[in-house]
Amino acid sequence: MAPTQAEVDAARDDPKLANVLYHDWESDTYDEKWSISFDERCTTFAVDRFRAVAGDAGPFEHALELGCGTGFFLLNLMQGGVARRGTVTDLSPGMVAVARRNAANLGLDVEGRVADAETIPVPDASVDLVVGHAVLHHIPDLDRAFREILRVLKPGGRFVFAGEPTRIGDLYARKLGQATWWATTRFAPASWLRPQTELDESSRAAALESVVDQHVFDPDRLERYAHAAGAVDVRVVTEELTAAVFGWPVRTFEAAVPPEKLGMGWAMFAYRTWQRLSWLDERLSRVVPRSLFYNALVTGVRPADPVAL
Ligand SMILES: C[S@@+](CC[C@H](N)C(=O)[O-])C[C@H]1O[C@@H](n2cnc3c(N)ncnc32)[C@H](O)[C@@H]1O
Repeated sequence: MAPTQAEVDAARDDPKLANVLYHDWESDTYDEKWSISFDERCTTFAVDRFRAVAGDAGPFEHALELGCGTGFFLLNLMQGGVARRGTVTDLSPGMVAVARRNAANLGLDVEGRVADAETIPVPDASVDLVVGHAVLHHIPDLDRAFREILRVLKPGGRFVFAGEPTRIGDLYARKLGQATWWATTRFAPASWLRPQTELDESSRAAALESVVDQHVFDPDRLERYAHAAGAVDVRVVTEELTAAVFGWPVRTFEAAVPPEKLGMGWAMFAYRTWQRLSWLDERLSRVVPRSLFYNALVTGVRPADPVAL
């Protein structure tokens, strides 16, 4: 159910409540809205993001996901052989329920828990890998979250976070998204658009976005969070420049127009174009400063305990 106006008002100064309301509301339609699937397309996408920053690390025995949403990142990484067993966690109970359902449908060995990334309810040194996709920018106290990540990792364990907006990338993605929403809802034939009640719900929930989205990142700042928590082998990479300029209008258009109007041809066109532009962006990354790309990815390792003398 969409948040009511009273709930939206109550959440304006409370990022955690805003996240629960916003993501609970999105949970049942999230996979459709963001074209999330658990097939070769999304498995390749997830594994490629992981490898882009963490190289050939793994496979890992037990992985924990923070801000799992519907399970897009970890479930696809498990299908791609990166981890054998998983725990998916999220602040939103609605999201955890969908992630558990998706895992069960895929026959994966996954436990689901409602949890805040700032206070992760798992014992010290108990997991081999911590992952997240598009979650860090929602967490108010990132120093605390990174300390928690290092606490729950076994010595030598690794974390990998992908899909975080850079400061400059967020600027152009947001402007392009807003312009596309405005143009689509004004000029597309009404028979193409989602029902008006759904569009109104989206607009009302969008009022929470400025509370839900807590951070944008300079790559150097992401590195500092990881180092401050005690991580070693920290690495940040960025990706998507032309792919983001193409992708954000496409994603926003898809949020206004239901998939049955667009068809499979559109989905394949969007995906193949995104792939070609990502290929171009990879070449551009050799000459263009990393802060101009949209997506930041970060990895690091909990140092092995010092050898007792
Ligand atoms: C943009 S969604 C991404 C979901 C999923 N990882 C994906 O990429 O599809 C961000 C998710 O982070 C969750 N979240 C926000 N703040 C959180 C926090 N403090 N602790 C744990 N999860 C949080 C939200 O509920 C939401 O499901």
